[in-house]
Amino acid sequence: MTTLITNIGELTTNDGPALHDAAVLLDGERIAWVGSATDAPSSAETVDVGGRAVIPGFVDSHSHLVFAGDRAAEFEARMAGQKYAAGGIRSTVAATRAATDDELRARLRGFVDEMRAQGTTTVEIKSGYGLSVADEERLVRLAAEVTPEVTFLGAHVVPVEYAGRSDDYVDLVTGPMLDACAPHAKWIDVFCETGAFTVDQSRRVLEAGVSRGLVPRVHASQLGPGEGVRLAVELGAASVDHGTYLTDADIDALAGSDTVLTLLPGVEFSTRQPYPDARRLIDAGVTVALACDTNPGSSFTSSMPFCIAVAVRDMGMTPAEALRAATVGGAAALRRDDVGRIAPGMRADLVLLRAPTHVHLPYRPGVPLVERVWKDGSPVA
Ligand code: NIG
Ligand code: FE
Repeated sequence: MTTLITNIGELTTNDGPALHDAAVLLDGERIAWVGSATDAPSSAETVDVGGRAVIPGFVDSHSHLVFAGDRAAEFEARMAGQKYAAGGIRSTVAATRAATDDELRARLRGFVDEMRAQGTTTVEIKSGYGLSVADEERLVRLAAEVTPEVTFLGAHVVPVEYAGRSDDYVDLVTGPMLDACAPHAKWIDVFCETGAFTVDQSRRVLEAGVSRGLVPRVHASQLGPGEGVRLAVELGAASVDHGTYLTDADIDALAGSDTVLTLLPGVEFSTRQPYPDARRLIDAGVTVALACDTNPGSSFTSSMPFCIAVAVRDMGMTPAEALRAATVGGAAALRRDDVGRIAPGMRADLVLLRAPTHVHLPYRPGVPLVERVWKDGSPVA
């Protein structure tokens, strides 16, 4: 079954320069052909998009979607001057432990639908609000119901019952918790930060994950400078995420590596921290991705268009760079070569914008410009 999307005014492919007056042929779950509308092959089904812009589906490579409750009061206090700290995670852990699988599943599916309606066709989801063997196991299991990109983040913070015994908790994470979670996960993550885990503890967690076939990704330099970025590069992590407080040595290490730096503008926005200088990073040769980090504490947005707008407005990215980071950049952060581009053979994940150009994404912040979304060739929004 083929579908021809035609009369595309601007087609961002991430596979060469943008095309104008273009068309894309979808064949089942894949893209079969891309080119000028006048040369397009015929197809039983044709969708004329009236000169609007089409872009690759967003690849949101960092989220925490399996949780209960929210922390609106914490956000309100923060806007009144209070600082964000890692400890807030524990209140979401308590709410999540008290929720049933069905409650968590319903919430999770709601977030995935919310993301799809905003153009996200690939999403990575982390555990990290269970922090016991049974609770982390159910979070990765539930996440695996909606995405293949599941990350075990048992080392998110030390839970209350292990207060003052963080090394014992790392023993649990790297032992029985990893045993229970590894079968459902592809990635291993750790929050390497003051108030969470030290660099030595982080190394233990990541190396244990690697020994079980998981690939590292790291939360680092979110609350202050640290050694997490260099640890991520040293261990060949697919991505290191946040990078709010990068040092020159971090940037040098990233620039000479295959590790993607995933920027999370929703976090700086929602915590009033300084925005990282994406311009400097790109100019230094660092591969950057943009992601939402949807979570109830530091960034409760699920909107990639919003993150693009902030990255352009406050982090020095051009609209084209921000779109690229939100699509093929996210694919690189997830080591996926089948998403993030519109080219023959790629997954048919595309977004039709109610706009003539992708520049409207940052130019019209907060406006719902996503008109239609195809995932694996099927309309999903
Ligand atoms: O990516 N940094 C650690 N984890 C999340 C925040 C989680 C929370 O505050 O609940 C983050 O910002
Ligand atoms: Fe996060």
